Amino acid sequence: MMNSNPMFINNEKIPNIPLIDRFPFPFKGDSYRYSNNSEALDPPFLLVITPEYFEEIKLKRQILHNKKKQAYQSFAHSLEAQWGILEMIINEMTSLYPNYFHVEKNESHWTFFNYLLEEEQSFIFGDSSSLPFEPLDFIGRHIQEDLVYIAQRDGDLYMDAGQLCFPANWSIAFNLGMTYTEFHSPVPHFSDSGLAEKVRNFLLRMEAGKPWTRLNWTLTVEPILDTFPETFDEWGVKKDKVTSKNAGELIHLRTEDQRLFRLPRSNGILFSIHTHLISLEELSKNEEWFIRFYKVLNDLPDYIAQYKGFISYKDKIIHYLDKTMKTTEGVIK
Ligand code: HEM
Repeated sequence: MMNSNPMFINNEKIPNIPLIDRFPFPFKGDSYRYSNNSEALDPPFLLVITPEYFEEIKLKRQILHNKKKQAYQSFAHSLEAQWGILEMIINEMTSLYPNYFHVEKNESHWTFFNYLLEEEQSFIFGDSSSLPFEPLDFIGRHIQEDLVYIAQRDGDLYMDAGQLCFPANWSIAFNLGMTYTEFHSPVPHFSDSGLAEKVRNFLLRMEAGKPWTRLNWTLTVEPILDTFPETFDEWGVKKDKVTSKNAGELIHLRTEDQRLFRLPRSNGILFSIHTHLISLEELSKNEEWFIRFYKVLNDLPDYIAQYKGFISYKDKIIHYLDKTMKTTEGVIK
């Protein structure tokens, strides 16, 4: 049973670093095209804990409570791999953040403590009936990252399970069971450029202990993390409100910090996604980033803006950026 234990005293604070000083800015140059921008992940860890931890965990749990099938899907044959994922994540949580998380292991009897949330859970490792949720679903409720489990079999990659509460307009319910090629099929020119095949071969060859990371990005209107295709009618209509006057406040750059781990037990891949949002107004505090974003947007092909869903208001953002740079002393040039 998950208990709220009055014995816990939550003295632990997540350092309140300003967003502009910790935002993962996704652009390395003044131009953006699709490429295999994966890099070795060093240090090789999955977790990033930010001051938004409490509100994001609350939102995740609300979504999982109200729309479970929309945010969590799995095949029964993924359960063993899910235990491997839970083990990996709990080991990382408790060794990197001993002040936030702790585990007591007595052979297969484990007790996991989340001091931040003042929760405690005992279970028998490997026995799914001893947890209130499947292992992937359980551990995902304690971290900000979304988690997707990709199985590797018969020389291919299959989406076999996932807890996806903060999707950038794609659906775990729709994608479950798809191969790598199938779930990437909506990405324009991904296949016909040969990039899809290159990335697939790279993924098939990934080794345990050598994780990778890449940043993906898009834009959203308002700081909405849960942009599900299933609720497009609620958040998609907000695009019509954007003007060059309100763009700084309304438009948010959305970076996904994606990490890839070969799982030694199952030989599958764990794909984690930590989503960060920053308003353009806030982004303007870093002049170099603001100018680079302007250049990237100006140079961006329509097919990418179309796929990412902001082609209808792209000119309004450019107008806003233009105006802001002209009125900000020393920034234009
Ligand atoms: C196994 C790990 C991966 C999974 C599960 C995954 C999954 C996905 C999914 C579900 C989408 C959205 C497709 C849609 O519109 O429905 C997507 C988009 C995309 N993926 Fe992957 N992906 C993985 C690895 C990679 C890697 C390593 C690359 C490296 C190039 C990559 C490149 C892309 C690109 C460029 C997009 C379009 C994103 C955008 O423009 O916003 N993916 N991926």
